[in-house]
Amino acid sequence: MELFAGVGGFRQAMEGIQKDFGIPFDCIAYSEIDANAIKTYKANYDCANEVEMGDIVAFNSDMSRYDNLDFDLLTGGFPCQSFSMMGKKLGFNDHRGTMFFEIEKILEKKRPKFVLLENVKNLITHDKGRTLKEIIGRLESLGYKVFYDIFNTSDFKLAQKRNRCIIFATTEALPESFAFSAASVKSVFDDAAADIKSLSFQRNILDVLSKEVSRKYYLSERIKPTLLADGSKNFVSKSEINQIIARPLTATMHKMHRACQDNYYSDGFINSSDPEAYLEVQFSKDELALQPIRKLTPEEAFALQGFTKEFVFNARNVKVCDGALYKQAGNAVSVNVIYAVLYFIFVHFNL
Ligand SMILES: C[S@@+](CC[C@H](N)C(=O)[O-])C[C@H]1O[C@@H](n2cnc3c(N)ncnc32)[C@H](O)[C@@H]1O
Repeated sequence: MELFAGVGGFRQAMEGIQKDFGIPFDCIAYSEIDANAIKTYKANYDCANEVEMGDIVAFNSDMSRYDNLDFDLLTGGFPCQSFSMMGKKLGFNDHRGTMFFEIEKILEKKRPKFVLLENVKNLITHDKGRTLKEIIGRLESLGYKVFYDIFNTSDFKLAQKRNRCIIFATTEALPESFAFSAASVKSVFDDAAADIKSLSFQRNILDVLSKEVSRKYYLSERIKPTLLADGSKNFVSKSEINQIIARPLTATMHKMHRACQDNYYSDGFINSSDPEAYLEVQFSKDELALQPIRKLTPEEAFALQGFTKEFVFNARNVKVCDGALYKQAGNAVSVNVIYAVLYFIFVHFNL
């Protein structure tokens, strides 16, 4: 069961594990309220015979709806605004923070063997650690053993810095050697790399950037000075645009933030054969502004989260526009990270 499904980052990873290692994962139900995300989801997964739960709060208003829904694994990247550094730090007092309680209600009723949750890194320190402590305490009181750590997407062969808190909880007996941490998951993932066929691995952003894209992704001469402005005359490409490992994608990237908060690339960098050497050359802001500079395309944004071009093609086919695609990519969980976690739990430890 996939809660807060978005475009199905968890499901994408499961389908990859199924393809590569034959571990069967069948989704029986998914919950999402964003109409565009649902369009992208349905365009990419075979959802026939699955329950479309819609708003989880409304669905949970009658818990007997779960009577005939049986599942072993519940996943959910629960909405993170209230825990995020960008939000107002309201946590459980903000209704968006209380989505965890909807998850708890389901666990109370169904007690699936495995739970995999994702949230922003800030969840760990939120309210001096009390928010996470409360989440862990509630899971433990339902009989779960709980593990969590911060996973950085760039450690899992994608060219994006993105720190997220992953929580794994299980009612199953675990082998003594089961030590769930980002480092141990990464090490097992790295060792398995040669057998992983369904993911594409990136060394840096040049594995993602297309050399030719529509002119509409280029910054206009009018907007360039505003986006490149950083308050200082000594703007250098190394510290602002042309990030070799992209900054974290955000759900609001379609609004285009300043260069220091977003991902912009100059044609000189995109076409360079040696990006490291290129970045050694220090350009002034004025010199840089003479070059064509562009933002990421939705296809590139999705690639930085581990999704294929075909995935975006399928979404475009059902008329999901660029703005919605950027939001979906910014909200998604990185497929490679979840793949690595699933591999660790279900293939390496064979749970
Ligand atoms: C952080 S995103 C999760 C993205 C997802 N893991 C993915 O890979 O795309 C949270 C999602 O929860 C959805 N959401 C928010 N409130 C919801 C609700 N009451 N019921 C169902 N989904 C909800 C949002 O629309 C958003 O897509």
